[in-house]
Amino acid sequence: MTSESRRQFLQLIASSPLVAALASSRAGAAADWSDGMIDELAGLVTTPADALNVFDLHRVAKANLPPAHYGYMATGTDGNDTLLANREAFQRVFLKAQRLVDISTIDTKLELLGEQLNSPIMLAPTGSQRAFHVEGELAVARAARSRGHTQVLSNVATTSIEDVNEALGAPVWFQLYPTANWSVAEKMLRRAEKAGAPVVMLTVDLNAESNRELMERYAAVDARDCSECHSDAKYYWLERKPMYYDTGFTDNDQFDTPAMTWEYVERLKDATSMKVVVKGIVHSDDALRCIEHGADGVVVSNHGGRAEASGQGTLDSLPGVVAAIDGRIPIIVDSGFRRGTDVFKALAMGADAIMIGRAYLWGLAAFGQPGVEKVLDLLNAELSMVMGQMGTPSLGDIGANSIGRHRY
Ligand code: FNR
Repeated sequence: MTSESRRQFLQLIASSPLVAALASSRAGAAADWSDGMIDELAGLVTTPADALNVFDLHRVAKANLPPAHYGYMATGTDGNDTLLANREAFQRVFLKAQRLVDISTIDTKLELLGEQLNSPIMLAPTGSQRAFHVEGELAVARAARSRGHTQVLSNVATTSIEDVNEALGAPVWFQLYPTANWSVAEKMLRRAEKAGAPVVMLTVDLNAESNRELMERYAAVDARDCSECHSDAKYYWLERKPMYYDTGFTDNDQFDTPAMTWEYVERLKDATSMKVVVKGIVHSDDALRCIEHGADGVVVSNHGGRAEASGQGTLDSLPGVVAAIDGRIPIIVDSGFRRGTDVFKALAMGADAIMIGRAYLWGLAAFGQPGVEKVLDLLNAELSMVMGQMGTPSLGDIGANSIGRHRY
């Protein structure tokens, strides 16, 4: 090939749309931090029934929400590397189908921490759901009830555990952000126990601060007067969270607990009759510490990419934790789950169940209860479909031989 013909060949390659698409895919992913927004043919659906996937509801949620509230939901940390890594980790895993298995009945039921679950897809604790829809946590609970899913209630929810339980028709699992004031935590534990919560999920991944730039950017372009709900006082907003009522919480109590260590897990175990699950584990050594300090379960989570700027997706954290736990206590995983295939991959890698966060918040912000129901319907249908495709009709059939790993 002469140098002239090689130059022409390279020019031809460079002008190819395929090459352009490949070259921009990583950059595109970086720009498209909110994933699924790049489907150019997709418009805004006007009813939940029209949504083909959870991203259709994301678009509606974004259009419905004031910028600051959308930013709170969407944000990662720094340049959103961890947020992106959560999604990218799924792409490196592929599925391996086995044929001629009787798949006429697909069974997604399981037992987890003594509870019977219809589906391995749980609703993660997310705070302030009334910032996304006027019915907030109640709409989510009614959807979880109608579709038979387990809901984990944040202790910074905008609705009380008693009201949510009534809407759910069963006790929620209760998530706890510890405060530096133990008596505040104790009062919340007593209240959750009284309400019948079988599990307390201790979140341990926000003890350092996180740099939520995307949230700041969206807040900066929100011109509304927000003083009715927000003030400059650092802990003012906690007064709007029913789980803190009557706990004696004051602005001087530290909400985040930089001094917290593993003794806190033991203290919690001693202080409550609920099962204790530690949320926010990404390191195999911490998985061992969970066992050492008496945890009943772990959640492999990086808070949906909102906690640390590690750049590690939870699916990449999972194998180390699975190996360390070695079947001794259940493993739940969250962060970045948007498809039935995502759920399948995590189960194949050894998780017992998964949690969704933003996916159901998109449904909530888009259409309230019917939007959340649609998200659950979509993900359950996708999971059932892929279980059939892979020849794994029950959750117990899904294992390491159902997946492989790309070498990039
Ligand atoms: C959260 N998350 C969270 N976690 C927690 O333990 N307590 C909480 O109050 C909240 N609040 C919260 C609010 C919002 C708007 C989001 C998006 C997330 C984290 C949540 O439980 C879960 O770990 C992530 O949402 C999972 O990632 P995806 O599914 O959102 O990608």
